[in-house]
Amino acid sequence: MTDAEDPFAHLHDERYDAPLAARRATAATLVNAHGRAALPLDGIWRLTLDPFEEGLRQRWYAADDTPPEAWDTPRDWEWEAGEPAPVPGCWNLLRPELLHYEGAAWYVRVFEAEAAAPGEAVLLQFGAAAQRAEVFLNGVHLGGHLGGSTPFTLDATAALRAGRNRLMVMVENARRPERVPMHHFDWFNYGGLHRSVALLRVPRLHVRRFALWLEPGSDFRRLRLRASLSHDEDGRGRLVIPALGFSADVPFEHGEADLLIEAAPPLWSPASPVLLDVELHHACEVLRERIGFREIRTEGTRILLNGEDLVLCGACVHEDDLATGRCSDEADIVRRIAHARELGANFLRLAHYPHDERVARMCDEAGILLWAEIPVYWAIAFDNTATLADARNQLGELIARDANRASIILWGVGNENADTDARLAFMAALARAAREADPSRLVTAACLINRATFRIEDRLAEHLDVIGLNEYFGWYEQGFQGLQRLLANSSPDRPVIVSETGADARAGHRDPAAPLFSEERQATFYEGQAAALERVPYVRGLAAWLLYDFRSLRRQTRAQGGFNRKGVIAEDKRTRKLGFAALAACFRRLREARGHPRPEGR
Ligand code: GCU
Repeated sequence: MTDAEDPFAHLHDERYDAPLAARRATAATLVNAHGRAALPLDGIWRLTLDPFEEGLRQRWYAADDTPPEAWDTPRDWEWEAGEPAPVPGCWNLLRPELLHYEGAAWYVRVFEAEAAAPGEAVLLQFGAAAQRAEVFLNGVHLGGHLGGSTPFTLDATAALRAGRNRLMVMVENARRPERVPMHHFDWFNYGGLHRSVALLRVPRLHVRRFALWLEPGSDFRRLRLRASLSHDEDGRGRLVIPALGFSADVPFEHGEADLLIEAAPPLWSPASPVLLDVELHHACEVLRERIGFREIRTEGTRILLNGEDLVLCGACVHEDDLATGRCSDEADIVRRIAHARELGANFLRLAHYPHDERVARMCDEAGILLWAEIPVYWAIAFDNTATLADARNQLGELIARDANRASIILWGVGNENADTDARLAFMAALARAAREADPSRLVTAACLINRATFRIEDRLAEHLDVIGLNEYFGWYEQGFQGLQRLLANSSPDRPVIVSETGADARAGHRDPAAPLFSEERQATFYEGQAAALERVPYVRGLAAWLLYDFRSLRRQTRAQGGFNRKGVIAEDKRTRKLGFAALAACFRRLREARGHPRPEGR
């Protein structure tokens, strides 16, 4: 700090972070890191809480590493004072005092590296950071990111040094009305770098992403390739699909390739989840993917997978764990899939935000179908253009990350949003954006009932391929007559999936009288749902709310104790409630009623 500088200026600058907003990572700059050579930066980092965002106000990131004993003027921060914190991790589970911490915190680590070689780009890749991140390398702001569940890429080429590098990431999970999700939601607001961080070294001109899918309506005989380069330049790559003996040139113009290819791959389905190795060669890089090819479309009120009628039986699931919070690991995902199988499910709704990338990859292998969504949840600021830009970007990042996942058949653009004009415009724009980015999947949203007409009626429906219906007859509304009346009143012209239905039960609370919050009540709830739904042909699926109990501070009765207890399995992810078997029976009834007595492939 120079003499002329006022050491107290930061006390009076409430626009301290405004300049940072100019440098944001977005869907357009996202690089698919899968299978690329990377220096993992996971491990134990240092964490410093910063509820006042002093780190930005006082520019802690610009401080050099002079030890305190050598400081000429006092400082308020030294990274070595931070507490050890795992990455991936959520700060909420570091110690009890942090469980409910909402605000900013700094993750810092040092690492050794070679400087960027000529013609090389060095990229920092983040799996996700809840909810906003600002990233500094050796004091240089690389950029920031908004959205707590999607990946982002930042260019570190210029800032990277040979030898010791210091990486600082301010992460903050403040709940705000203009954000996506907004400040009111029914899940736990974990904070932190809850997915992996890595350093990628790629050629200056590199393929950012590519997507390859079976072209809808091509009679399963044409593939479409879309690929993007890092720069607006022309180039040439090569697509190779060894199993098909296929190899062809891929011309890039202005950094984009869009190719239609004659090829008839074996079809992916839950009964036969066949995946093909695909290589995209460009410059000295080979990007590898394992891709399943399938066609998903609707016909009237039916959903067709590879031309075959499909009934979706499944459950919703949050990314929530007693021990790891928002962090998923493969064992957890394997267990999730095994529990779905045990229920006789072929479907999972990944609520209410993009889940860890490995979930869809493992469901590709396992043959489980998925609904993936962005957290446009409840009363979003639908009239705020910045909020729309944020939602559109999160959708773009989700699609860019998971475009090659056969298991994902539905993009969800929202959940339980009141039917206003602003919402209609906002969510219709998202539905359009999803189709533009990916014409190979269906678009849906979890819609509400039109209470005035008591029908499944939502102006957004005409922008959707599949109508999601969240209904809680038999729990929040007494009895199932309302459900029968609603279903009888309604005549949707497209498939309806019950995207949520469920009842709370505290594991171990047994009472033959089936009072509220008892296991018996949850079981009879699914019997009632099955009896109503099985008779209505336009209902083509059910996603029960939900697989596991999860943390939610909105739930404060003694039975709930800070958890949403609608799981058919308790939060320990082991204890099955009576509702588990009842839900499995509900699936059997729904399938039998639709002429699909057994789960695919069983
Ligand atoms: C809503 C909402 C869920 C919530 C559930 C519940 O439908 O979409 O996120 O947890 O109701 O009340 O349990």
